[in-house]
Amino acid sequence: MKKIQVLPSLLAADVGDLRGGVKRAEENGADAIHLDIMDPHFVPNISFGPDVVAMAKRTSPGLYRNVHLMMLRPDLYLKPFADAGAQTIQIHVEADCDVGNTLIRIREMGLRPAIAINPETEVEKLKEFLGIVDEVLVMTVHPGFGAQKFIAECMDKMRWVRAQRPNLDIMVDGGINYETGKASIEAGANMLVSGSYLYKQPDMRKAMEDLRNV
Ligand code: DX5
Ligand code: ZN
Repeated sequence: MKKIQVLPSLLAADVGDLRGGVKRAEENGADAIHLDIMDPHFVPNISFGPDVVAMAKRTSPGLYRNVHLMMLRPDLYLKPFADAGAQTIQIHVEADCDVGNTLIRIREMGLRPAIAINPETEVEKLKEFLGIVDEVLVMTVHPGFGAQKFIAECMDKMRWVRAQRPNLDIMVDGGINYETGKASIEAGANMLVSGSYLYKQPDMRKAMEDLRNV
């Protein structure tokens, strides 16, 4: 079985101290930091942009940067995020661009391409991209906000992807705590994003270790 990785989502950190949020993830042994980038056409919210990715790189150069582009046109923004220090770039299958070509460009930039899927999208839409990505991101909330409730039905997608491609990394994002993290691992996920649950822990290190040791 693949090693379990835990990625705090910076969206849940104190917005007045994002640098502290990056440091806290690193100091507690996070496997990577998850950076949620939103445009208001793709989701009903706006978060942050490349400058925050660059800040994460300056703050904790050794902490891997996993960048989740919840954007309608991620294809137009690959370079700014790559220049800022993104290492994995996740784009959505629902994006309004040539998704396959964008994934290929991400790899050509020397970065790790990943495809994300929203709760309402049929999993078969992923099929044509499974051969050109390293990672699939299964959303278990409707993207746009932290601290929402985990949508358990999305676990079928993890099982489906795991059955199709046993070697792919499967990440889960949205409403992850100890119980939903455990259920997701059982369904085939090996990378867990967690925002509000991890950042509110008095002992973030222990909460991440508990998840890894599920
Ligand atoms: C949702 C984001 C998630 C979010 C997760 O739009 O993609 O990464 O920050 O937050 P929690 O763990 O609080 O659901
Ligand atoms: Zn995310």
